[in-house]
Amino acid sequence: MHKNFKGIEKTVFGRGAFAQLGDILEERRQDNDKFMFFVVDNYFKGKDLEKKIPAKPQDVVRFIDVDPEEPTTQLIDSLRDEILSKKGLPSGVVGIGGGSIMDIAKAVSLMFTNEGSSTLYQGLNLVKKPGIYHVGVPTISGTGAEVSMTAVLTGPTKKLGLKCEWTVFNQVVLDPDLIASVPRNWWFYTGMDTYIHCIESENGLLNNAYSHSYAEQSLKLCREIYLGPNSGQTPENDDKLMVASLMGGLSLTYSEVGVCHALSYGLSKILGMRHCYANCIAFNHLHDYYAEGVTEFKEMIRKHKIDLPQGLSKDWTDEQITAMANVSYNLPHMWNHAVGPDWKDKVTVKDIEGLFRRL
Ligand SMILES: [Fe+2]
Repeated sequence: MHKNFKGIEKTVFGRGAFAQLGDILEERRQDNDKFMFFVVDNYFKGKDLEKKIPAKPQDVVRFIDVDPEEPTTQLIDSLRDEILSKKGLPSGVVGIGGGSIMDIAKAVSLMFTNEGSSTLYQGLNLVKKPGIYHVGVPTISGTGAEVSMTAVLTGPTKKLGLKCEWTVFNQVVLDPDLIASVPRNWWFYTGMDTYIHCIESENGLLNNAYSHSYAEQSLKLCREIYLGPNSGQTPENDDKLMVASLMGGLSLTYSEVGVCHALSYGLSKILGMRHCYANCIAFNHLHDYYAEGVTEFKEMIRKHKIDLPQGLSKDWTDEQITAMANVSYNLPHMWNHAVGPDWKDKVTVKDIEGLFRRL
């Protein structure tokens, strides 16, 4: 069976595209209870961007502090319950922020129309009804959350996405001006999420002409941004990073992530480490799985003088390491892609513990 996936319905790309958001929303303002729900990264509170949000008096604008945790099922449920009881059903949800805000906008859009806690829907195709209209406006690029079919949520028992075709945004606004203010280390870590998506997508069973073509183009852009003669945080590279992130995400849609993401999920779930940073911490030591990618990654680290801690595992308990290894081991689709269908003969929980001890 081949995947039959849904893409973003509409995309606007270009410097200043954010100014078109008001007109874009206008078409949907008569839907449901006639108000928009904006979910905005708290980082923008009091900043220029706040003044540019095309909110009308009836709309709800909610600033959310996503640092340092990934969105929880509890946050999604309480946002939904609160808005429904105070205002009713929004015409649409607009997420303005990084990967976590994208996940919140996607998840809450689904939960407005699906009863009960979002924990009931963590997994593949468990959501029963389409969500409400939702728009993604990324302000940091690299996670590919703007294009993915998944809204990753941390629940009481699992960190797992609401994954179905209704998760995908109806509209995405890609304005490279918005990512200009990202601090350098985060510009690097989140961009590396895209780079790692492509390396993992390419190096595994599920890679094919479709996923390869997107990964190839995305990697070309990543190399220009992080290694080329004009590398660095420039407006031209911001344009490229926004597109690289999208293409890396599209590559994954038709392939799969691998060992690095499996470890990264363990680091996030047990230690609360942020996704992109956790990827970098893990990828740095995965030379035996992704030799060329890791060598190039180290070059990028050197070139941009990025702080990437090592020797972290000496402060972790055996219990924490075992717990992280179990989280990783329970992502069979990633190991299957990276190692092969007989991966259980080749990789044990003990081996994965060994990988964590390298970090
Ligand atoms: Fe990722």
